[in-house]
Amino acid sequence: MQMRGPLPSGFGELDMTKMPRHVAIIMDGNGRWAKAQGKGRTAGHRAGMERLCKVVRTSSDIGLEALTLYAFSTENWKRPRPEVEALFALLVEYIRREIDELHRNQVCLRIMGEIQYLPAAARREVERGCALTAENTGMVLNIALNYGSRFEIVRAARQLAQRVQEGTLQTDAIDEACFAQALYTQGLSDPDLLIRTSGEQRLSNFMLYQLAYAEFVFTEKHWPDFENEVYYECLMQYMHRERRFGAVGKV
Ligand code: FPP
Repeated sequence: MQMRGPLPSGFGELDMTKMPRHVAIIMDGNGRWAKAQGKGRTAGHRAGMERLCKVVRTSSDIGLEALTLYAFSTENWKRPRPEVEALFALLVEYIRREIDELHRNQVCLRIMGEIQYLPAAARREVERGCALTAENTGMVLNIALNYGSRFEIVRAARQLAQRVQEGTLQTDAIDEACFAQALYTQGLSDPDLLIRTSGEQRLSNFMLYQLAYAEFVFTEKHWPDFENEVYYECLMQYMHRERRFGAVGKV
């Protein structure tokens, strides 16, 4: 873990030896935030995009190895078409506006999900951003787009079955490490900490395999209100937990 400079505002002391390497966030509550402000849902998503921008900067500044953000699930297509279009327009705007800074900060953009079904402009921007930053050695910014965890697992099983059928893989060689390499998160460590905003306490088909040993922290704050102070509180909660990975703890 690399610290690049002073801690961002809102952060007190952080014990760098206990920091998570990989944080995953279910960004929830844009709609409720907008409603509380008497605004439309698109305004909520725009505020969510601005928050995302800040959280990415902070995460890179505090030296995370990876930040995974749940931006669009396979179930989100059920939302009204104008809302879906607004979400992808915000994604395009975000990448166009921020990619140079991300690149300067050595952030490596990755996407997990079936991006071939994204609107063409969004897909183009995503591919361009990933290609530009592919060799960067700083934080991995992994955005889940058109992502569903059960599908990800089924897709991995299919890929491995195909390789067995072709004779390039022995059934006995399929172990947890081999399976993990067939997931979208290939090469990334599992998230140590999962944060979900806006009070809901469920996984919503997110990283079911990778979150096996993660610590979960839930906050009542809506995503647009997830300020540095709230992020810091979540990290502090994580650092005070004892992670045992199935073993016996200190007695
Ligand atoms: C949840 O709010 C959030 C989302 C559906 C997606 C997150 C989207 C953004 C942060 C906007 C920009 C995206 C990118 C990738 C730049 P909700 O609508 O489910 O909130 P609600 O449950 O209160 O209705």
